Amino acid sequence: MAAAAFVLSTSLLAQDRPQSLRGATPITETSKVDQYQRGPDQGPIPRDYVQQPPLIPHKIDGYRIDLNFNKCMDCHAWSKAKEAGATKVSLTHFRDQASGAELANISPSRYFCNQCHVPQVDAKPLVGNDFKPVDALAQPGRK
Ligand code: HEC
Ligand code: HEC
Repeated sequence: MAAAAFVLSTSLLAQDRPQSLRGATPITETSKVDQYQRGPDQGPIPRDYVQQPPLIPHKIDGYRIDLNFNKCMDCHAWSKAKEAGATKVSLTHFRDQASGAELANISPSRYFCNQCHVPQVDAKPLVGNDFKPVDALAQPGRK
């Protein structure tokens, strides 16, 4: 009886649990997240809330970020943004998270841009959500 109840409750749990984008693909294999189609490059996508890392409105295929080089900063650094027509990286990205000190270069905790910024794809939301920003802080154009 106890065993039956356990089986029942775990199967219910499995049903309720949202699936991650990589689904059941083990970490040792490349996931098929790429199956999601990216639309053409467009203007910035309105943010849903003020603290949201803006979605990337352009392709990032082959943009390398490693110890020596950060392709994103080629256009988003303050010194390059104007020429590239890109948005400058946020001022908050130069702040040391622990001490709050302003740094001379991008904070190590902001170096790997794709930890927070992702290109938009046409993917169904994993879970339902009816969040709405307060009117005063809503970005124009947001659905
Ligand atoms: C070749 C230049 C170039 C490179 C390299 C580049 N970007 Fe961009 N990015 C742009 C431009 C130009 C825009 C602005 C598009 C517009 O305003 O229509 C932009 C916009 C963005 C935005 C949207 C900003 C907003 O306010 O909504 C984000 C986020 C972003 N890029 C992140 C990245 C990340 C992360 C990388 C590296 C993986 C990267 N970009 C690499 C040129 C570049
Ligand atoms: C730890 C998460 C995180 C990382 C890593 C990160 N960002 Fe951001 N980014 C954010 C958030 C959150 C915002 C919006 C709030 C803000 O400005 O801090 C933002 C804002 C931006 C903006 C818009 C600035 C504006 O004035 O509207 C750009 C462009 C951007 N980031 C580019 C980058 C690039 C390029 C990198 C890598 C060098 C990067 N970010 C790394 C979280 C992150």
